[in-house]
Amino acid sequence: MKSPKPLVEIVATGRYLPDRVLTNFELQKLVDTSDAWIRERTGIRERRIAPPDMGAAEMGARAARIAMDRAWVHPGEIDVIVVATATPDRLLPSTACDLQALLGAGNAAAYDVSAACSGFIYALQAAEGHIAAGRAEIALVVATEKMSGIVDWTDRQTCVLFGDGAGAVVVRKATESSGLLSSYIRSDGNLAELLWRPAGGVRVPMDAAVLDDRSHLVRMAGREVFKSAVRSMAEAADQALMKAGLTSEDIALLIPHQANMRIIEAPAKHTSIPLDKVFVNIDRYGNTSSATIPIALDEALEQGRIRRGDRLHAVAFGAGYTWASAVLRW
Ligand SMILES: CC(C)(COP(=O)(O)OP(=O)(O)OC[C@H]1O[C@@H](n2cnc3c(N)ncnc32)[C@H](O)[C@@H]1OP(=O)(O)O)[C@@H](O)C(=O)NCCC(=O)NCCS
Repeated sequence: MKSPKPLVEIVATGRYLPDRVLTNFELQKLVDTSDAWIRERTGIRERRIAPPDMGAAEMGARAARIAMDRAWVHPGEIDVIVVATATPDRLLPSTACDLQALLGAGNAAAYDVSAACSGFIYALQAAEGHIAAGRAEIALVVATEKMSGIVDWTDRQTCVLFGDGAGAVVVRKATESSGLLSSYIRSDGNLAELLWRPAGGVRVPMDAAVLDDRSHLVRMAGREVFKSAVRSMAEAADQALMKAGLTSEDIALLIPHQANMRIIEAPAKHTSIPLDKVFVNIDRYGNTSSATIPIALDEALEQGRIRRGDRLHAVAFGAGYTWASAVLRW
């Protein structure tokens, strides 16, 4: 089967990681854990933590400015900003609107996508829709997360996993054969309580009892999430490859969501992609939720691991439960 003609392409990327490094050794002082346990079970050595006064919009804006500079795009030229985040600065208005104001992108429509760790691919697909329908010429897709603001720093099962960071891409109409060849998004709300924040919304509003039992923070059924992740990443990987008319042998680089080294290995094993064709940076950043894929893409380009014409395969899963994948020709 021939690959479909792409409708949009990513013309530039950018990333922002806060300077502050939090090592496993520092975490040993906070909770009952060890560097050895975290490394062996997750592959994480350290993660980045944003300063208290920096939110998701500011982190996203820093990544976006780099992508926009590289794409030679001025803020006023952006037609739509789609922000993927599970850690909005405020519940109202959207983080995308705050980011729009920071960038001075006064001609854009801006909104958030809430699909947790799958959010970047969801947002990319939304941007593709705007451009394909002729509603936009230039889209900015940003994934930005301040996970340090929503994890429970007394829960050793979750606090060791996450980190802060942002990635951004500028998307335009595809001109040739490079671009987004396929994408696939799915969700299953029946699994919502595997990974969630039980309180703090309108159904269980924030009050003294919520603060006391910390139910406004992330709760996770780790082993169940692990099993669902392996299953859904495999399905998502197959679907996007099939829609792109490709097999795993055509893929130059697999960019999986960086949640756990053992979960990263799962779609690689499923699609028989050797580990040297899998991008990994979980050791340095942990799980930055929706931001892992655009951060990895930006780093892979910087490291010269992607060449013109290469086919890339991104695969993600996250709270919701959501899962997603995309195949791109660079
Ligand atoms: C969380 C996770 C790393 C735990 O690893 P695991 O190998 O499944 O470990 P288990 O949950 O079986 O726990 C084994 C033991 O380690 C303990 N443990 C959990 N976290 C620990 C930590 N940070 N340090 C030391 N011990 C820890 C558990 O309490 C358990 O102890 P017990 O046997 O006395 O009850 C793993 O389940 C995982 O990665 N799940 C997916 C999480 C994820 O990706 N979330 C984001 C989705 S986008």
